[in-house]
Amino acid sequence: MMERVLVTGAGGFIGSHLIEKLHAQGAYVIALDDLSVGKLENLEANFDCFLEKDLAVPENVENLPKVDYVYHFAAPCSIIMFKRDNTNQLINSTLNGFYNILNYCKKNNVKKLIWASSATYYGNSKGKLTEDRMPNPANVYGYTKVASEHLMNLFKDVNHVGLRIFPAYGGKEEHKGTFASVPYLFLKDMLQGITPVIWGDGTQARDFIYISDLVDLIVKAGHKDTSPYLNLGTGQKMQFNTLVKEINRVIGTNIAPKYMPNPYANSYLHSFVADTTLMKKELGIANTSIKEGLQLTAEWIKRKVLHR
Ligand SMILES: NC(=O)c1ccc[n+]([C@@H]2O[C@H](COP(=O)([O-])OP(=O)(O)OC[C@H]3O[C@@H](n4cnc5c(N)ncnc54)[C@H](O)[C@@H]3O)[C@@H](O)[C@H]2O)c1
Repeated sequence: MMERVLVTGAGGFIGSHLIEKLHAQGAYVIALDDLSVGKLENLEANFDCFLEKDLAVPENVENLPKVDYVYHFAAPCSIIMFKRDNTNQLINSTLNGFYNILNYCKKNNVKKLIWASSATYYGNSKGKLTEDRMPNPANVYGYTKVASEHLMNLFKDVNHVGLRIFPAYGGKEEHKGTFASVPYLFLKDMLQGITPVIWGDGTQARDFIYISDLVDLIVKAGHKDTSPYLNLGTGQKMQFNTLVKEINRVIGTNIAPKYMPNPYANSYLHSFVADTTLMKKELGIANTSIKEGLQLTAEWIKRKVLHR
């Protein structure tokens, strides 16, 4: 029988790639987004039904159609997005939205809830970032994810997997503007001959995962029995200075970055990389190389952004 799925945040970066994959696999896809950040054009034709709703409002969630699986990816993805004007909006959207979704999953006995926690759970923790580590968030965004994990504890009968996602990059990030991933922003600038700007000295590092690898892992996590929390990353650390060199190699340029003081130094995470032991055991690996991921993202930017 055709599987029915609800994907929240479907107009966003991860959600839009996710509906593409689930729809191609033959699922009946109910796509939901309030379009506060995401864009309708990101959805393309990869859904059976689209609902424009704010999940933070309980009545919007109570009467959603019944589904087998819920993929919950609707939430602000950056603290900086909200810091200047309204941190309450970040908290309201993330926590009330999640609480409403949890009640919905319980009431409708969904088979599994697959939802986005974040690598920011670990903050600036030192050593191996294994899933059994204590939380150590460094900013409000990280706290909302830790609070979501605590909220999850109140819903013991909801089968779930919380995904501690490391920074993802790829096409369909354009709606995020200056909050898009660092590989995306650097690529977009450098493809136009613009100097990329690095906050600090460029020794900060991230574990960048290419979007199609991430989505493959998310879908696998939905269809298997898994641990309640899983890191999703590559296990490889990349410094921003090295990233600029890689991009120069991939697009055939020779552009040096410009450095400026970090405006968010107090809440900034310097470097983090996933421990992928559990992920590899339960789901498999993320196997797109950074070179390949950058090439694919560059092609997408050239086709969809720079040539329109
Ligand atoms: N992109 C990453 O690298 C990354 C890393 C770790 C965790 N995450 C998490 O994954 C999720 C998705 O991230 P993304 O990168 O796709 O972000 P995104 O901003 O591109 O997508 C989020 C979508 O959710 C929608 N949305 C926000 N609040 C909503 C609400 N209250 N009701 C309905 N829709 C709402 C937005 O309009 C947007 O389309 C977020 O929870 C984010 O914290 C992302």
